[in-house]
Amino acid sequence: MSRCVVVGAGAREHALAQTLASRHDVVVTPGNAGIAAQGIACSAAGATELDADLFVIGPEQPLVDGLADTLRAQGKSVLGPGVDGARLEGSKAYMKEFLNAAGVPTAAYGSFSDETRALEFLATMSAPYVIKTDGLAAGKGVLVTNDLDEARADVLDKLRGSSFGAAGSTVVIEEGLAGEECSLLFLCDGTRATPLVAAQDFKRVGDGDRGANTGGMGAYAPMAAMDSRAVTEITATMVEPTMRELRRRGIDFRGVLYAGLMLTKDGPRLLEYNVRFGDPETEVLAPLYGDRLYELLERAANGDLRGVDTTTSGCAVTVVLAAHGYPQHPRAGDVISGLGPDGQLAHALEGVSIFHAGTRHGEHGDFMTAGGRVVAVTGVAHSVALARRRAYEGVSLVTFEGQVARTDIAAAAL
Ligand code: AMP
Ligand code: GLY
Repeated sequence: MSRCVVVGAGAREHALAQTLASRHDVVVTPGNAGIAAQGIACSAAGATELDADLFVIGPEQPLVDGLADTLRAQGKSVLGPGVDGARLEGSKAYMKEFLNAAGVPTAAYGSFSDETRALEFLATMSAPYVIKTDGLAAGKGVLVTNDLDEARADVLDKLRGSSFGAAGSTVVIEEGLAGEECSLLFLCDGTRATPLVAAQDFKRVGDGDRGANTGGMGAYAPMAAMDSRAVTEITATMVEPTMRELRRRGIDFRGVLYAGLMLTKDGPRLLEYNVRFGDPETEVLAPLYGDRLYELLERAANGDLRGVDTTTSGCAVTVVLAAHGYPQHPRAGDVISGLGPDGQLAHALEGVSIFHAGTRHGEHGDFMTAGGRVVAVTGVAHSVALARRRAYEGVSLVTFEGQVARTDIAAAAL
């Protein structure tokens, strides 16, 4: 039994912690009410004050802030890149420059801090218009629209700091791409990159991919449209050139490289890299790897992925339940019913787990909403159809006022 520290406070970290805790001693910092309710230790101490055989850093912000560097300087094994590698996610303008240097196929773009030049460039593009904040914006800094006036207004809002503060002081304007999206996550050990099973995330708040972009309303894996030939091609044309370019820049990337892909009619294009596990992708991936997860993460952290097997059997579907008003103005303080004292379903269902994101304990020991995404309900089974049925059975048992959830997660995969 090894000791593992997971950094973060969301459903992604809950999924990682619950999976790792089946065989290992896990501490989550800071963790959340649902993780603690399952008897997994949550610590208010920072990661640098804890000791463990492996540190897994969930969110992007601590990576961009250099937590992995600090822990490595203490001699720790860490899954997560340093500040240098984290720039791939921390600045979209840097990422686009990097992709062009590495020869990775991606949307044409321009990056601007100047209003006039940004609007001139926008006028040369055709719909759909894609406007992104350069800096981190919790998955919400991207506008995709067919309306040029809306696109122009968004450029000005972002550059003037009214919508995203400093994160929007540079904007990236991109060619609009069309197709299915896929999240292909790679474990990287500094030299090698090994794909995990492909997942699909549903980013829009409403059914049929309508409404605002969110952090992600659900996911499923394995994604039907990504066969092993497509994965091999993406690895060869995108991720291996990326690993070479990272090394050329002196960057020892040990962590998760998350390729956000658009499968266009002209072939796959990279929309973005993230430098960490996806949320909600992890709520399907972690249960699929189960007891093998620790070894995979530990080998990536220690530069030793040679010959690992990342194939899985089984399918998983997760559905996010978000708070009233999500994503613009989520409301906190609604009482959640259907959960037992351990934060899982009061009436347990086979193959269903509840991963907590934004919950806290109410006065009577019950759970209340305390964030945008509240819980993710994951179903696991031998088929997507059964995994999906299980997830939605779970969803029907967890209720709170104003709940926002999609009814069509993984529906098209059946
Ligand atoms: P990103 O944070 O860059 O992944 O963008 C968030 C979401 O915006 C993506 O998941 C896509 O749904 C959408 N998006 C981003 N870039 C483009 C693009 N170039 N064309 C069309 N949609 C895009
Ligand atoms: N699922 C989107 C993300 O983790 O960024």
